[in-house]
Amino acid sequence: MDKLIIEGGKPLVGRVKVAGSKNATLPLMCATLLTRGRSHLRNVPDLRDVRTMGRLLTTLGARVDSRADELWIDTGGAEGQEAPYDLVKTMRASVLALGPLVAKTGLGRVSLPGGCAIGERPIDQHLKGLEAMGAKIELEGGYVIARAKRLKGADVAMDLVTVTGTENLMMAAVLAKGRSVLRNCAREPEVVDLARALKAAGARIEGAGTSTIVIEGADELGPLEHTVMPDRIEAGTYMVAAGITRGELAIADAPLEHLTAVVGKLKEAGLRFQQTPRGVVVSARRAPKPVSVITGPYPGFPTDMQAQLMALLTLSTGSSLVQETIFENRLMHTSELRRLGAVVEVTGSTAVVKGVRKLTGAPVMATDLRASACLVLAALAAEGETHISRVYHLDRGYERIDQKLIAAGATIRRVSEGPPK
Ligand code: EPU
Repeated sequence: MDKLIIEGGKPLVGRVKVAGSKNATLPLMCATLLTRGRSHLRNVPDLRDVRTMGRLLTTLGARVDSRADELWIDTGGAEGQEAPYDLVKTMRASVLALGPLVAKTGLGRVSLPGGCAIGERPIDQHLKGLEAMGAKIELEGGYVIARAKRLKGADVAMDLVTVTGTENLMMAAVLAKGRSVLRNCAREPEVVDLARALKAAGARIEGAGTSTIVIEGADELGPLEHTVMPDRIEAGTYMVAAGITRGELAIADAPLEHLTAVVGKLKEAGLRFQQTPRGVVVSARRAPKPVSVITGPYPGFPTDMQAQLMALLTLSTGSSLVQETIFENRLMHTSELRRLGAVVEVTGSTAVVKGVRKLTGAPVMATDLRASACLVLAALAAEGETHISRVYHLDRGYERIDQKLIAAGATIRRVSEGPPK
C-alpha cells in the first residue's frame, strides 16, 4: 500500500492535461455487454477502477485489450452472468453490469453492494426499474438476481435522482421490447455520454441530459465505438490545486461546459479563469474568499467536488457553509483537515469552515476517493510535510495525479507502506 509524502507551500505553475472521465468509462465498459462484437473506447483513463471493471468483463468471458488510452472489449464469448463479491466489494460501479446482463442474456447475478465510506447507497431504484420492465428480482446469498426472458418497455418514475440507476435502466431498456419512459432521470453529462455511445451503436434514445428519457427497444446493437468525455471532476480538482497554492495552472481538456456550478463557486472564491489555446488558465494571487455551497444533482454543485472545495475554503478569509445533500456520510475528510490545522465544525450534513491563515503538515489518512483528493490539495498548501496514507483510494479515480502535480512544481514522493491492510 502506497503513501504520499507532500512537501507543501509552493505555488503550482504549469500545465496539466485532464484524462477521460472515470464515471463515463465505467458504464461504457458495462454497455459493451449489450453487444456481441468488438467495441473500441478511446480516451480511457488509466485507473484502478477501470482495471477492476476490465477484470469483471474478463470474468464474464469478454476479451479486454488495452494500449495507451485505448480499450478494445470483445464480448463475442461473454456468456458469464455473475459479478462476484470479490470484484463488487472493491468497486460499487460493478452494479452497472446488472442491467446489461439481464437485458442481453436473460439473467444477471450481481453481488449486492453494501454501504461504503460515504453512505448506505442502496440500489432499490435500479431494482424497481428492472422489475417494472418485467424482471423477476430475487435476493439470495448476498446476491441480487434479475431474470427475464426478454425485458419489456415500461414507464418508470424513479423516486430520487440516481446516476448509475439511470444508466443501468437506460442500458436495460435499449434491448427491451417496446418503449420505455424513464422519469426523474439524472442529467449528469456522463449519462449523456453513455447515451451518445449507445445511439451510435444503434440504440434509440431521446432526452438524455433531461429528466425524461424515452427509449425504443432494439433487437440488437452493434459494438461501441466511442471517445470518452474528459473528467470534469479531475479538471475541477486541478482548478482548486491552482487556487489553493496561489499558483497558475493551464488545464488542458477541461470540459468547462460541464463545470458551470464549480467554476461559479471558484470565481466567487476569487480564482481567476482565462481561456487560452493551452487550455483554461486558473490562477489566484491571494487568500480565497469564503463561499457557501450546497451539493445537488447536476447541474447543481457536484458532491464529487465538495471535499476539494472545502480544502480551499479552510484557507479563506471568513466563514463558509458547506452542505452535503447527496450522501449522508461524506464529510469524513473534515476530521483529517483538522489535523492539518483547519477549523471545521460539523453538524449533521453541514460543515462550517472558518478560514485560517495557514495549514501545517501532519500525518493523515484518506477514507475515500474524493476525501483523498481533498487531503492532497490541503497538503499542497500546508507548510511542511504531510503524509497521506491509503492512497489506493486516490489511484481508483485520478490518473497519475502525483506525476501530473510534480510536473507543475509540486514536491511529492510516493513510498510503499507494504501490502494493504
Ligand atoms: N440512492 C438510493 N437508491 C438507489 C440509488 C441511489 O437511495 O437505488 C441514493 C444514494 O444512496 C445517494 C443518492 O441516491 O444518496 C444518489 O446516488 P447515485 O445513485 O446518484 O450515486 P451513484 O450512481 O452510486 C455516481 C458516481 C459517484 C457520484 C454519484 C453522485 C459513478 C460510478 N459513481 O454514484 O461517484 O458521487 O453518482 O453524483 O458514476 C466518485 O466518483 O467519487 C463517486 C462516488
